[in-house]
Formats: sequence, C-alpha cells, structure tokens
Amino acid sequence: MTRAWWRDAVVYEVYVRSFADSDGDGLGDLAGIRERLPYIVDLGADAIWLTPFYPSPMRDAGYDVADYRDVDPRFGSLAEFDRLLATAHGLGLRVFVDIVPNHTSSEHPWFREALADPASPRRHWYMFRPPRPDGSPPNDWKSVFGGSAWTFDAASGDYYLHLFDSSQPDLNWRNPAVHAEFLSILRFWLDRGVDGFRIDVAHALYKDPKLRDGDQHGWDRDEVFDVWREWREVIDSYDDRSLVGEVFLYDMDRVGKYVGRTRLQQAFNFSVAKTPFDAAAFRATIRKSLEVFVRPGTSPTWVLSNHDLIRHATRYGGGERGVRRGRAATALLLALPGSPYLYQGEELGLEQSDVPPEARQDPTWFRSGEVGRDGCRTPMPWTSTAPGYGFTTGPPWLPFDAQAKTRNVEAEVASEESTLSFYRRALAARRALLPSLRREVSWPAAPDDCVVVSRATRAGRSFVAAMNAAGSARVVQLTGSAEVLLSSAERPVVDAGSVTVPPESTVWLRV
Ligand code: GLC
Repeated sequence: MTRAWWRDAVVYEVYVRSFADSDGDGLGDLAGIRERLPYIVDLGADAIWLTPFYPSPMRDAGYDVADYRDVDPRFGSLAEFDRLLATAHGLGLRVFVDIVPNHTSSEHPWFREALADPASPRRHWYMFRPPRPDGSPPNDWKSVFGGSAWTFDAASGDYYLHLFDSSQPDLNWRNPAVHAEFLSILRFWLDRGVDGFRIDVAHALYKDPKLRDGDQHGWDRDEVFDVWREWREVIDSYDDRSLVGEVFLYDMDRVGKYVGRTRLQQAFNFSVAKTPFDAAAFRATIRKSLEVFVRPGTSPTWVLSNHDLIRHATRYGGGERGVRRGRAATALLLALPGSPYLYQGEELGLEQSDVPPEARQDPTWFRSGEVGRDGCRTPMPWTSTAPGYGFTTGPPWLPFDAQAKTRNVEAEVASEESTLSFYRRALAARRALLPSLRREVSWPAAPDDCVVVSRATRAGRSFVAAMNAAGSARVVQLTGSAEVLLSSAERPVVDAGSVTVPPESTVWLRV
C-alpha cells in the first residue's frame, strides 16, 4: 500500500493560459510554468493541476480539445510537457492534468468524420438526433453558456447536442468505443508519469436516454459511476495516482456518491465556494462536508475559487475587506482535514478583474451576453512593471487591471503583511502540524458569529482554529493556555483561558 498522498494535499490550480509566458506571444505556456515552479514550491503546495494544454481551437479556452494526446504548439510540445513534469517531480510537486471526456472540439477529427459521413461509426460517438416534427430541436435543453443545447447540421438534417458551446459536441458515453478510447488516453498520460487527472464535468457524461424536456434533470445519472469504476481500475494499476472530479452539484450527498474506493478519490466541493461569509453558513457547510467526505477511500476538498468562479475576495465584498475575509476563510479551511484546492492569484488577494467588453473571450459572453468568466482568468502579475507585469513581454491575451500595480508577486514577497506572505506562513504551519493532527474535528462552544473547530494532536494537546466573521472583536473561550500559531490579520490577544479574535479574521492556536 502506498501512502494516500492526495488525502491532505494542497493543490494549486495553474491556469495555463495565464500563469507565465516564456515566448512573448501574450499567452502562458508550459516552459513559462516550468520556470516558475519554484514559486509554487515556496508557496507550500504539494501538487499542481494544469488546465488543458491540448491542441484546440480555443473557443472555450482549451476545454474544446481537438487531440487528447498532444500539446498545442502555443503552449509547447510533448517534449516540453515531459520537461515540466520531470522538473515538478524533481521539486517534489505532483501533477494533475485536466481531462475533458464530456465533449470534444468540433474540430476534433472524430467529429469531423461524424459530420462528413453520417454513415460512419464516428456518428455514434456523438449525440445526433432528428428534429421534432415541427423542425425544432429534439428537446428544450439549454446550453450552460446560453441558448439551445442543440445545433442543426444542415447537411444531414440532424441536430447535435452540446451542453456547452456549439463548438463542443457532447460524446455518446453509451457507446463502448468511447470508453475504450478514453481508457487508452488515460494510459497515454499515466505512462508519461502524470500523478492524476482533474475530470471536467464529471457528472454529466450520461444524459436521460429519452432526452426528455426539462433542463439538466437528465445529466447527473448513476450510470456515470461505471465510468469512474473503469477509470479507477486503470489508475489503480499504476502506483499512487489519483482522480478528482469536477462534480458541479450543490447536493453534497449526491457529490458523495462520486467518490470512494471504487470511484473517484475526490470531487470538488463547490458548496464551499457558494457559502457566504457568515459563521452559521460556514458551520453548516463544514459539518456536512465532514459528514459526507471524511471516510475511507476519499477525503474532503475545500474550494473557494477557480477559473469558472468569481474570485472570492470579490464575492466577500471586494476591496481590502474582501481580501481580509478571504484570508480568514482560507485559514479556517486549511485547518480542516482534506485537500484545499487553491486557484492561482488568490494567494495575492486578487479580485475579479473588470474586463472590458471588447477584450472578453468567454463563450458565455458571446452566447448569452452575460459578463462571463474572463475576470478571474486575467494573467498573474509577477512584477510591478506595466505593461506585462513580468507575465509577458507581448500583449497579454486578457488585460491587466489596476490591482496588478500593488497586488503582484514582487511587491508581496517584500511585505510581511501581504496576502502572499500570509499564505506562505499558513501553508508552512499546516505542513508542520499535519503529521501530529488527528482527523476528527470537534466543535467547542463559540459565539454565534464565530466558527471554532478543534483537532486533537498526538501529543495530547489540541489544535484550534477560530474564525470571527463579525465586524468587531469576539472572545472565544479555550480549555487551557494557548499559543498562537497563525493569524490571518492582526495578532490576537490571548489570556488565560480565552482569546480575543480580531474582526473578520481567523487564528490558529495550540491549546
Ligand atoms: C468545466 C470547466 C469550464 C469549461 C466547461 C466546459 O466546467 O471548468 O471552464 O468551460 O467545463 O468544458
């Protein structure tokens, strides 16, 4: 038995397009990431998740894959991928790659073949259906990005299904050939040495077989568990690899069905990101998460931000207050058993950028007119120097906004008070504590607007994390004398048997 490294791993999401550009084309790339890996090591992450770098027409930022076994030349090459992987491993970082099994790009040779020849076996790799008698789409499903989930193929007279953009036709997972193909793709990357996969849209591969009207009801189906069992068998035939699913559901009991010994090791817990900055709401989310995900074969994940969500500093109110609350929430979640999934830039306290309409790239914007997700995808500011901020020497694919002047790596490394310095302290403290911490979480009595969790240490002490969500200080009673291990804001005042936690902040104590 190998150690389940993923159980408490801190995973850092590298949004490949926006991390570091080595060749001046304004788009991040694998060589840029390789050069910046020491930054991620210094931050204190255990693993990285790389968003898609496969050949793609980039209609959905690379989540429209045209070849699952190669690297888009804009990002590098397979040789460059191998170098990145070797460097990461040499630094002790594990690497998850993104895999997109729900749909391909419409430019994928499989789909081109399916379109070109309706009699070809490839046709059954996708979801083609005839119109209703009045010529309208087969059902009323809506694309996640807006508009109908069906696009008409005039040549054949059929529609094809796409839960996302029309350039992302859905695969037909009721076809065994699709299963076999993806198992082979998994092996391709596992043989290269990747440590695991982040599975895109892991809940929606199977649709209601009758394709009944009623949006989305048919998407989260038990049949998909067979796929995760098959994938798990492949994963388990290698050493020490892991699967984490993007199960975009808010019903934690349901998300819990996707994980376990014969399914995925982990699934993203989006309920955490949905939780407002409120003590009762956090208590409820955390309690439920621990109930569902603390069990053999899986472990909880703690997700505040990613490349699809509004950055949490903004969700929590924005400005210095939003950043302060973000630090408090992060410190609370880092104290719990399980894996925090961090999103690049949150460690700088980045807020959602305001991307002007003419610069937007997200298909959501084009399909629905909603602002879309570009604001959380703007490039990493590495230095204080405009216009490229150390990210690129060329025109960045999405523009920087004013916050890059002050919230950047160079400026924050130089300040003890910065969010980056706080993340480094927190992750270092967590790593040092982890071996001594038991997994069970208890809930000492606490003021209503505080969240206080406690874990026993093997040395017979306890580790307490106390978040005060109120706008003024709160006194939390302790069972003994305490030593402060970390604070997300001003240093708390510790008395015999109590601690005064500053407003909107979290403290870690050894009691
Ligand atoms: C996932 C990705 C998102 C993408 C979508 C379609 O939700 O995280 O960025 O647009 O799947 O692939």
